[in-house]
Amino acid sequence: MIVKDSDFYRAYVGVWDEGAMKDAPFITLGVEAILTDYYGNLLDAPPPFPVQKGALTLDLGCGWSRVLKPVLDRGAHGIGLDISQAMLEQSRKHLEKHGHTPALLRGDGTRLPFRDDSFDAAYSLLVLQHLSKANGKLVLGEVHRILKSGGVAYIRVPSRFAPENLLFAFLQFISIHLFRYRDPIRMRFYRLGEIRKLCRGLFSECEITAHEFRPPWNIHTKWTWHYIIVPRRFHRALRRFSDRIEAKANGPLPFLRHFGVTLMVKVTK
Ligand SMILES: C[S@@+](CC[C@H](N)C(=O)[O-])C[C@H]1O[C@@H](n2cnc3c(N)ncnc32)[C@H](O)[C@@H]1O
Repeated sequence: MIVKDSDFYRAYVGVWDEGAMKDAPFITLGVEAILTDYYGNLLDAPPPFPVQKGALTLDLGCGWSRVLKPVLDRGAHGIGLDISQAMLEQSRKHLEKHGHTPALLRGDGTRLPFRDDSFDAAYSLLVLQHLSKANGKLVLGEVHRILKSGGVAYIRVPSRFAPENLLFAFLQFISIHLFRYRDPIRMRFYRLGEIRKLCRGLFSECEITAHEFRPPWNIHTKWTWHYIIVPRRFHRALRRFSDRIEAKANGPLPFLRHFGVTLMVKVTK
């Protein structure tokens, strides 16, 4: 990351190292698994994009390889890169447990340690929101640089106007400005037009879809350790409702895209 302040950098990486030990397994196994009717089995979820067998694919900000594992299962040659060594250690355990030989690398998305035009595909899911807009732009530039011509990348970011994200942004705002909470990791929620503009400046094609239309129940932040859990009997119905809105948003009613929790940006070099 282009950082002016090495203390900030250390603290930033430290939060992810800590998160790797605590939050990732907890959120996955302990909490979100409760909502399986809504989310499906997170540990066995298919990647949210098509995977090409044999394609050299970069997972930028792989975390504990929640997505890299199913990508490898489908026959791609995947490389996981993350800024946190502790996350990579979780990744290694997770991948080895499932019979893969992990190719993992510590690195920073804003300065990828790869040659130009070397990957068939890349993806970066839920990483850009933790970086400043300027660093996010650098990451996109790096993704463009390392992709071969015609290569495709998928970038997932949380979107600005989803009820859940508005609530999160509000809580983050008061915790920083009222309670003077100092956290090196801040969430940036992207407007659809903003991420489109960033990508169109670089890539030859850019297509954006919106996902996860749900009520603001999934609040698990440092500031609000509570869950607004809807009784289980309503999960299936809510999921169907959410899927129907998603289909409309990515079809005949594009203005609804603004309200999905995440945006998936497909870009082609
Ligand atoms: C919210 S997690 C997402 C993990 C994974 N992509 C997933 O969807 O399960 C964000 C991850 O990005 C990593 N990360 C944050 N900033 C990064 C950077 N500048 N370069 C590479 N990885 C970074 C963090 O260490 C963390 O593992």
